[in-house]
Amino acid sequence: MSDSAIQVSGLHKRYGEHVVLGGVDFDVPAGTVFALLGPNGAGKTTTVSILSTLDTADAGTLRVAGVDVRRNPRDVRRHIAVTGQFAAVDNTLTGAENLRLIAGLHHLSRRDARSKVDGLLDRFALTDVADRRASTYSGGMRRRLDLATSLVGDPSIVFLDEPTTGLDPRSRREMWSLVRELVDAGVTIFLTTQYLDEADRLADHIAILDGGRIAGSGTADELTRAVPGGHLELRFTDTDVATRAALVLTSVAPSRTDTTLRVDTDGAVRDVRHVLGLLEAADVDVESMALHTPDLDDVFFSLTGGRPASDTRDLQEAIAP
Ligand SMILES: Nc1ncnc2c1ncn2[C@@H]1O[C@H](COP(=O)(O)OP(=O)(O)O)[C@@H](O)[C@H]1O
Ligand SMILES: [Mg+2]
Repeated sequence: MSDSAIQVSGLHKRYGEHVVLGGVDFDVPAGTVFALLGPNGAGKTTTVSILSTLDTADAGTLRVAGVDVRRNPRDVRRHIAVTGQFAAVDNTLTGAENLRLIAGLHHLSRRDARSKVDGLLDRFALTDVADRRASTYSGGMRRRLDLATSLVGDPSIVFLDEPTTGLDPRSRREMWSLVRELVDAGVTIFLTTQYLDEADRLADHIAILDGGRIAGSGTADELTRAVPGGHLELRFTDTDVATRAALVLTSVAPSRTDTTLRVDTDGAVRDVRHVLGLLEAADVDVESMALHTPDLDDVFFSLTGGRPASDTRDLQEAIAP
């Protein structure tokens, strides 16, 4: 058994003339959360559909749970669960009925089904509303039920396609903690999202999908350290002090606006200490300082050159005569 839950190399997919995935590679270690980050139309759902055997690739080597997806899609299905952006819950049934239905599809015995359903209702805080029709559920409750139904078959890998799009902040947080619980229970999570904060919050590894390729990947830390934008900002009481400070700091080439100096740094403690040490040795008082480290926003803009064009392209196609 390999340590990879999902291995993708050279994944290509086109719809007609439209190349959606133009050679995508990534590797998801077992027991981790992997976030595929990208704007609308980037190909996130296409990737999930292919890995979960709902759609086929044009080219590429794909392994999920150690199984060759293109050769043995049926075996793959035994290991995975998929929950989509649009919950696949039957609104005419109650929460408990939805779960029992899926337990039936998995051929669980009556007793196993009951304990499984009760356990999931409890775990997803749905016991109180178990006998209410899903049509009366809030968006957050419906997503929880959707996720619960996907766990009936004890999958080792769960695909979550934009699990929090359209949810209010509180439901998003609930969803995040459920995802964390799943990981703690040993499940591998493949998540797609348009939200940088969600990827930052949940994912061990992030890959940024743009223009049909992975534009960058790594941990949030690795990604943010690799882009420019970090700096140390030093404020001084007046322009005279700032002028003296600028002279003292010529070796680190600060930029200046009025009483503020800015020194580029990736945020390393050694840099900060060096700068403060120079000022202290010259007896220059710093009034206040702030360290700005690049965030995933900076990464996204740096790697994709601004708001992704695909949005505009789709829009232009949509409004073209
Ligand atoms: N079945 C399909 N037929 C034709 N084009 C499709 C189909 N599915 C997706 N697309 C196109 O592929 C691109 C990527 O779609 P998708 O994977 O849904 O993106 P995302 O999930 O990142 O928003 C979009 O431009 C979309 O219009
Ligand atoms: Mg999508």
